Parts: sequence; C-alpha cells; structure tokens
Amino acid sequence: MAARRVGGEGRLSRLVLALASGNPGKLREIQSLLSGLAIEVRSAADLGGVDFPEEGDQYVPNAIAKAHAAAEQLGCCAVADDSGLEVEGLDWAPGALSARYGGPGLDDRGRLEHLLAELATRPDASRRARFVCVASFVSSEGEVQTERGECPGRILLEPRGEGGFGYDPVFEPDGFSCSMAELSSDEKHAISHRGRALARLRPAIEAFVSLAQP
Ligand code: IMP
Repeated sequence: MAARRVGGEGRLSRLVLALASGNPGKLREIQSLLSGLAIEVRSAADLGGVDFPEEGDQYVPNAIAKAHAAAEQLGCCAVADDSGLEVEGLDWAPGALSARYGGPGLDDRGRLEHLLAELATRPDASRRARFVCVASFVSSEGEVQTERGECPGRILLEPRGEGGFGYDPVFEPDGFSCSMAELSSDEKHAISHRGRALARLRPAIEAFVSLAQP
C-alpha cells in the first residue's frame, strides 16, 4: 500500500495521517499533540469513515486493531489511542472498558456520576487512580509501533471544571490541587497519559514522514 497523498493543482500534495477515533475529545487532543509534523492529520470520519472492530478489555490489541482498520480501509498511515481510567479501590476498574462503564446509554457525565456513586458505597476504598493511554501508529506499509503513557492521581469527591472530556472533572493529577478539567490544554498535554504516549510515538511518525517525502 503506497503512502496516500492529497492536494490539487497549485497545492503541494501532502501525506495524510488518519486519527482512528470517533471520540471528539481524543481527536482534539491528538490533533494538537501531533501538530507541527509535515503531514496532514485528519479524523478517520473526515477521510470517509472506518468500520472499527469490536473492542476488547486490553489496551494494546484494541489500539493496534483500530489503527490497522483505519490504515487498511483508508489507504494511509494511522494513529489510534486506547485509553481508560483505573481506580485502585475498584480493583483498577474500569480500565480499557471506561467508555462503557455503567452500561449503554450513559454519556460522559453519566459515567462520571456512576463512578462517584460506586466509590460512595465503598467509603474505605482507595481513591488512588491513574489514566492510561496506549497509542499505536501503523504506517502505510503496515509497520506498527505502540507506546504507553500513564498519569497518576486520585478521584475527587465531586466534579470540578469544564475543560477536557470524560472523567477529567473528577481526576486530580498528582502534584496539582485542581481537577484535570481545570487545567489548560497545554498543562494537560504536559502531564497526561495521552501527552506522554504521543511524545514517545512522535519520533516514529517523524521518521516515517521523512522517508516518505517526495
Ligand atoms: P476508548 O479508548 O475509546 O475505549 O475510550 C476511552 C475512555 O476512557 C473515554 O471514553 C473516557 O471515558 C476515558 N478517558 C480516556 N482518556 C481520558 C482523558 O484524557 N480524560 C478523561 N477521560 C478519559
């Protein structure tokens, strides 16, 4: 499969990198974390859409399967992220199942409230927690690189802040006295699980871009 390029008359043709996610919060963050590369970073939906495989309960195979699906179906290189929140007092649940925690029909706010309700019934449970992100890059030749990032912290008693997405309002990162949703995007990127995983993945994408340049 050749590297896919876009661009018309009078424009330089550019390499395209598909972001294999339908989660607008993740897309926003990954787009920002990969800015400055000589490659056009676009959502899979924007490039025509992808049928993603059913997700399991393990980050690594989930991330690789999503990136492979996007690369194969769209004919370009792709990045996917599989992530979640792990809480010690819940035996490190919900983990890779975080997007489905509490059952179908809940939105981000509903899942966050479900988490607080679960912890409220276990007053002695540890609120120590960590966000985990596994990010995979699949080149247009099908080569795979996968990196992991973590962000330790604890679960607050009540939601705080409007930024970020998902469980950010109830997560206080270590070293801060506010929630992840009260940080600026740059502050979150500097310490987040996703920021760390993407920083580790970036050199592989840069190497791919420099080899694929015309
Ligand atoms: P998945 O990787 O698509 O299975 O979904 C990951 C889920 O974990 C998201 O839907 C969020 O609920 C949660 N999550 C992952 N990263 C973050 C984050 O940076 N902030 C808040 N919640 C997150």
